[in-house]
Formats: sequence, structure tokens, C-alpha cells
Amino acid sequence: MKVLITGGLGFIGRIVTAKLLDNGHSVRIIDNLSEQIHGVLPVFEASWQSDPRVEIVRGDVTDEQQLARAVSDIDAVAHLAAETGTGQSMYQISRYNLVNSQGTAHLLQALIGRRESPISKLVLASSRSIYGEGAYQCGHCADGRHQVPASRSAAQLSAAKWEPECDQCGTPLTSVPTAEDSVPRPASIYAATKLAQEDLVRIFSESTGVATTSLRFQNVYGEGQSLNNPYTGILSIFSTRLRRGLRLPIFEDGLESRDFIHVDDIARAIVMAIEAPTTGYKVFNVGSGVATSVLALAGLLAARFGMADTTDVTGQFRLGDIRHCTADMSRIGTELGFRPAITLQQGLDRFVEWVAAQPLPEDGLSRAESELRKHGLMGAKH
Ligand SMILES: NC(=O)c1ccc[n+]([C@@H]2O[C@H](COP(=O)([O-])OP(=O)(O)OC[C@H]3O[C@@H](n4cnc5c(N)ncnc54)[C@H](O)[C@@H]3O)[C@@H](O)[C@H]2O)c1
Repeated sequence: MKVLITGGLGFIGRIVTAKLLDNGHSVRIIDNLSEQIHGVLPVFEASWQSDPRVEIVRGDVTDEQQLARAVSDIDAVAHLAAETGTGQSMYQISRYNLVNSQGTAHLLQALIGRRESPISKLVLASSRSIYGEGAYQCGHCADGRHQVPASRSAAQLSAAKWEPECDQCGTPLTSVPTAEDSVPRPASIYAATKLAQEDLVRIFSESTGVATTSLRFQNVYGEGQSLNNPYTGILSIFSTRLRRGLRLPIFEDGLESRDFIHVDDIARAIVMAIEAPTTGYKVFNVGSGVATSVLALAGLLAARFGMADTTDVTGQFRLGDIRHCTADMSRIGTELGFRPAITLQQGLDRFVEWVAAQPLPEDGLSRAESELRKHGLMGAKH
């Protein structure tokens, strides 16, 4: 198969490319080498850099003509190109919509031009962010009902009421794994654009019959994640601070949690989705199914740098952040046979070994946070 990967020079796209080549496919990449991600002088290292089966087009998904040329002779598409910073999306609304929503529309427009010889599979890199807070249960009402609470308000967060509250009795809720049929409730502009992408590809699939899969990734980490981008990638940001001997500021009370999945597992899921003989429109969660608090994660990372007592729990918060999330991994296990293979401990070992061999980047965290403050998107508990 010849597979087009938009954003194929990014963190996830590079590993997907390697895996597709291993499986005997050829790849065309379209990527604009965004400066925020790749730096002013883009460099990337990949085993396949001079492989004749890989064609790299420096192009932009906001350019419909470039996409029309890029899809002309391909068999499948993995759509990964996107702006990915949750906090940044809250004040760069037009840019996030242009690249993520309109970029997807341009891709589908290009694929409409292939109606006579349709592609066999479209895979979208979606995100767990579309759920917003995702699924919770109330211990007090004890009715077993799952609810998807609204985003936490500035007033609630200022009062250090970190946990989402029951819509019936106001009791703090308990997070449970979120399944694919949970009601979407995006809490950030980034999340809204990822949901828009899903709606676009779903309707495209239903109207054209092109087999399409949206994969909702949890927090992806691992070797190759941009160390330049201060707007996303908690492990990259923290590792730069640790290497610079700086402390790690932890939002809220540090007990907010995420589901971390290694990039190698994510890339494997994408390739499985491309190759699987599925029909129609499918949606799958891709995560580890394990919740890890940010404080625990910081401790695990610092220990690998031989450092102890490096965290400051600040009580600060960002509007648009969710409190907890864990994937319910049942569906992808049953229908695609996918199970994550790399534990967080193993993945962190690999990540830290890779980071230690990289040039030491600037610490951009203060810049990213001051932008959020300027836009009134960061606060602190009273
Ligand atoms: N990394 C995560 O934790 C995570 C979680 C959920 C979903 N995702 C999704 O996975 C996909 C890939 O994420 P990633 O972590 O590899 O991000 P990344 O930033 O490392 O890679 C994105 C790539 O897209 C390219 N790009 C950006 N704007 C473009 C444009 N206008 N035209 C062409 N190329 C453009 C960039 O240059 C970059 O190479 C994204 O769609 C993202 O929303 C990632």
C-alpha cells in the first residue's frame, strides 16, 4: 500500500512511517515542518531518511491544491497534521481551527476528487480531549450512573475544589475509565477542533463508504517528542527543566491524573487501523488504561535523573484543563486485537535515555505560562 501521512515528520508520524516501511508499505509525507515544533532549522533523525520508498513533500494542510496533488495516487491516509497545544488553543482560536478543522476539510475535499478510485482506509489521529472530563461516578448517589461533568469553572478552581462535582448532589465525583460511547464534552478549543475533525471524517465516511477510523489517543510520550514546543508534552517540558536544574511546578494539588501511552504503542495502533479489514466508520480509544497523577509522574521522571524533592505543588490552574482521564480499552482490544505493550516504567527508561543524548533546549515553560496569564487563562487557589 502507498500511505499518505499528513504531519508525518512529527513525533508520532515518524514512528508510524518506520512501522509502515517494516510492513512493506511505501509512504508519502506532507508536513510544513512547523517552527514551533521543529525549531527554526528543522532537523529530524529517522532510520528511513534516505529510503526510496519515502517521499517527503514540504506542504501545508491549509493548502487545498497541495493536498489534491498529495492524494492523487495513494491507497490510504493517516491524518496526523495538527496544532496540538491545549492551552495555546484557547487564545489562538483561528489558527487552531484553520489547521485542524479546515485542514481536515481540505483533505476530505481532495479525497472527494478520488471518488472514481477511492482510497481503502482513512485513519484520523483524534484525541481523548473530545470527552472533556469524561466518565465519572458519584459515591453518594450510588446509582452506578456514569456522568460527564461540565468543565470546572474559575470560581470552583479558585476555591481549590479540584474534583468535578455531581450534577445531582454536588459531591466530588470519582473518575472511571471512559468508553467510546461517552458523550463528547470538549473543554478546550483544541478539543473542539478534534471533535470537528471526527464529525467531518465520520460524515465523509458515511456518505462515501470510505472505511474510516478515528483513534482517540490519550497522553502520548516517548523518544522523539518535540523538546522545542513549550505548549504541549509534559514529559518533554519537565525533562528540560530537570536537565537545567530547575524545579517542577505542579498545577492544582498534583493529584490530577492522566493516562500515558508510549509512542511506539500508538504508532502500532495506527498501523493496525490502516491494515485492518474494517468497513464503515469506527472509533477506538488508545491508551494504557492506567491513571497516573502528575505528581507521581514528576517523581518517576526526577528519579531517573537522579534527583529528589524537585516538585512545587503550586495550587495554580489552567482553564481548559481536565482533572482526570483514563481510557476504557475494551473495544480496541476486542475489535482490533490491540493491547499496549510498553509499561510507563519501561517507557520512561527509554525516554530518559533518549533525552540525555539530545541538545539541551531552552526552558520555554515561563513563556507559555505568561501567555496564558496575559489571556486570563491561568489562576491560583485563594
Ligand atoms: N502527542 C499526544 O499526546 C497526542 C494526543 C492526542 C492526539 N494527538 C494527535 O496526534 C497527531 C500527531 O501528534 P504529534 O504528537 O505527533 O504532534 P507533533 O506536533 O509532533 O506533529 C505534528 C506534525 O504536523 C505538522 N504540521 C503542523 N501543522 C501543519 C500544517 N498546517 N500542515 C502540515 N503539517 C503540519 C508539524 O510540522 C509536525 O511535524 C495530532 O493530530 C494530535 O492532535 C496527539
